[in-house]
Amino acid sequence: MYSRIAGTGSYLPEKVLTNQDLEKMVETSDDWIRTRTGITQRHIAHSDQAASDLAFHASQNAMKAAGVTNKDIDLIIVATTTPDMVFPSTACILQDKLGVENCPAFDVQAVCSGFVYALATADMFVSSGKCRNALVVGSEIYSKIVDWNDRSTCVLFGDGAGAVVLSQSEAPGILSSHLHANGSYKDVLSVPGSIGGGVVQGNPFISMEGGTVFKFAVKVLEDVAQEAVTESQLKTSDIDWLIPHQANIRIIRSTAQKLGIPLEKVVVTVDKHGNTSAASIPLALDLAVRDGRIQKDQLVLLEGVGGGFTWGAVLLRW
Ligand code: ACO
Repeated sequence: MYSRIAGTGSYLPEKVLTNQDLEKMVETSDDWIRTRTGITQRHIAHSDQAASDLAFHASQNAMKAAGVTNKDIDLIIVATTTPDMVFPSTACILQDKLGVENCPAFDVQAVCSGFVYALATADMFVSSGKCRNALVVGSEIYSKIVDWNDRSTCVLFGDGAGAVVLSQSEAPGILSSHLHANGSYKDVLSVPGSIGGGVVQGNPFISMEGGTVFKFAVKVLEDVAQEAVTESQLKTSDIDWLIPHQANIRIIRSTAQKLGIPLEKVVVTVDKHGNTSAASIPLALDLAVRDGRIQKDQLVLLEGVGGGFTWGAVLLRW
């Protein structure tokens, strides 16, 4: 028994914040943002939208593409760092919005690696025969945890959601998954605040050592891609599509170069979406599936890195 992605979906909030808009908010320039990050614009959720709302739209699109209804879904996993509330989980709130009954539903918190962690977890349930159709979602509203006065972080992030339905299959879909973490880097990239005594204690916004994140990301994205292909006795040249976490075009280019993968085989959305954390990989996957780039039987590598640090990859046959 194998698991295979049966359908993908995504959702981006309507409001677009351009680099020119940001020039009016903080001391920055379109040129600085584009040359340092590759980002030209990002989508921003409405103040009354929560992660489960974005997830709901992405999930509906994925379920439609997979040809399943809410009666068919028997597992929901949501990867998010920006949940609707402390509890219940965003997955439980999404379950209610979709009208799915009784199935297990839980969140995964692995920051920008969240979707890869969630997909690897869902694969365990589906390929073992415990579930038939898992809904796996990455949904984020980073605009809520960005300090809009801090130019070193506010230009980087955006909001959005992506989803897949992972179904049982006779033919191999997911070939292997590889998850890692190193908590000794916990202070390099974090939102250090916590809730206590009825208020947020400490800093509620993203705090980041950009240079350290950059170097670490390039190293582990290369390592985990090599690990994934080696375990399947393949080579990086066998990969038809690389879908890395969309943090920064320079990280993406360096990773592709180290792996010897031409940029034409890399799906890039960071220019239009910014960094949408756990949503970036399923958003990029959905785009490349819908515009026809990803074709049946092609080899696709999804890989992410994020706060924790966490990192991981999922290798799959489309
Ligand atoms: N506009 C203009 N100037 C800026 C801005 C801005 N938005 N932000 C910082 N600067 C200034 C700095 O203050 C600094 O000025 P100084 O030299 O006078 O002190 C100067 O620009 C250069 O800053 P650097 O940090 O050297 O710029 P760098 O080329 O390293 O790029 C960046 C910074 C884009 C953050 C880079 O380090 C990076 O991409 N790191 C990865 C971080 C990342 O992707 N985080 C996302 C979350 S993690 C993840 O998703 C994996």
